[in-house]
Amino acid sequence: MENYAKEIERRRTFAIISHPDAGKTTLTEKLLLYGGAILQAGAVKGKAADRHAVSDWMELEKKRGISITSSVMQFHYEGYCINILDTPGHQDFSEDTYRTLMAADSAVMVIDAAKGIEPQTRKLFRVCAMRGIPIFTFINKLDREARDPFDLIDELEKEFGIGTYPMNWPIGCGQSFRGVFDRKDRRILVFNAKNRGQTKLEAIECDITDTERLDGIIGEDRRRELCEQVELLDAASFDFDMEKVRAGKLSPVFFGSALTNFGVEPFLESFLRMTTPPLPRKAGDVLVDPLCGEFSAFVFKIQANMNKAHRDRLAFLRICSGKFERGAEYFHVQEGKSIKLSQPQQLMAQEREIVDEAYAGDTIGVFDPGIFSIGDTVCSSKMKITYEGIPTFAPEHFATVEQVDTMKRKQFVKGMNQIAQEGAIQIFFEPGAGMERVIVGVVGVLQFEVLEYRLKNEYGVDVRRSNLSYQYIRWIDGETNPASLNITSDTKWVQDFRGRNLLIFTSEWNIRWALEKNPGLSLSDFSRN
Ligand code: G4P
Repeated sequence: MENYAKEIERRRTFAIISHPDAGKTTLTEKLLLYGGAILQAGAVKGKAADRHAVSDWMELEKKRGISITSSVMQFHYEGYCINILDTPGHQDFSEDTYRTLMAADSAVMVIDAAKGIEPQTRKLFRVCAMRGIPIFTFINKLDREARDPFDLIDELEKEFGIGTYPMNWPIGCGQSFRGVFDRKDRRILVFNAKNRGQTKLEAIECDITDTERLDGIIGEDRRRELCEQVELLDAASFDFDMEKVRAGKLSPVFFGSALTNFGVEPFLESFLRMTTPPLPRKAGDVLVDPLCGEFSAFVFKIQANMNKAHRDRLAFLRICSGKFERGAEYFHVQEGKSIKLSQPQQLMAQEREIVDEAYAGDTIGVFDPGIFSIGDTVCSSKMKITYEGIPTFAPEHFATVEQVDTMKRKQFVKGMNQIAQEGAIQIFFEPGAGMERVIVGVVGVLQFEVLEYRLKNEYGVDVRRSNLSYQYIRWIDGETNPASLNITSDTKWVQDFRGRNLLIFTSEWNIRWALEKNPGLSLSDFSRN
């Protein structure tokens, strides 16, 4: 096999999704420890002080002590080259979080065992499900009091409409957590709170019918309970089916405790065996094979002004096929021009490193002189392809924004349009009103602050923002005439910059009302571009 093909075959590119505090950072750190990419826990999301030593990004970022920019973490483990795409969460949750999922080949969903599915898990899951990528579940914090594991599994199946396949099964939780039963190898891994952080676990091979030995290890009561539960699982749970896993219809579930490093390595090994190398991607009617030999990539994110001194703008590309070589000439499809991608860099936990080559599965950041838009295709000039665009996702926070100084009208309009075009905010208009009354929509409230900051610093415009009580926006599918719709007085008809019609609502109740009162009306919470 050619060298480039070998490189691609060993790549695994995935995102970790979770609700804040479920343990995404802790799990990421433990995975990086195995790959030798970091030497100590705490290096990924270092506390404010040490992060600022390496970060010279937006003032806003410093002020808030948060990371607006997602990065990729690459490490090697047992011959695999692993790319973890960081999905911004917490206050920096934004549309970029969704877009990053467009660049992943699979997702790991971290769930807090005491809480189960939480709002952000729901949102992120939906985007993964829309793409049909494999979803692996890590149920975390078994060293604390947890909900009944059957309950948790049931919730995943019912709420998400997927099958689950527990790869292991917890033995107790919290103070009485004894470990997990590995269903494939029929052995138990014993949890020993004293072994926090150790890399290799003491694996006790144990036939589940060897009651005497089991009693000695986990106690008679726990043994009885485990045997019953395993019997129930074997009889009643879904069969393992790799095709379904790969189609995102069956989620392998792992129980563990990221903080104490329990169950992380078996998870990693199993996950790497099940997940795939970079998948073919659709470009119109063509399915582009990552091994086709020609370079192709698409822009999944644009980050402006990361370094104030240089006023730079980075476009993040996900490589879909072939090999990227620094200095080579490529074709930017949307502009119809040949380009050299300058300063190609990989972002490793907030540090930038220039890369000379990269392969399908990798993501790179390149200097953007203002030519790229989200979803653009860059490829070898021999390929005539255009990757499918990245959908626009429904914002959840809305505000009207106007310039304080009316003399600054021109700069205001320019700034708003440019920032919207980059995908940092979405703008909507009341039909016929144009830029006179513009409504800004964002997925995460921090995007408002970024907008205000950038309008002031890059365009010299101070703005006044008034938050609106709308929470939901839906694109109107098909040919429905919005003017003739029967909607509540607090529902508003607006248009996006492409002139597509949408409705904004203050509650879910209003959405249901509109659907009920207007037979034939079809609404979507994302829009294919
Ligand atoms: P996130 O990135 O998903 O937001 O979560 P993060 O890893 O930051 O974890 C959130 C909190 O949960 C942290 O505690 C972390 O130590 C804890 N945690 C993560 N995994 C486990 C686990 O398996 N067991 C237990 N018991 N706790 C876990 P914190 O006190 O909020 O932060 P820190 O002071 O420890 O950094």
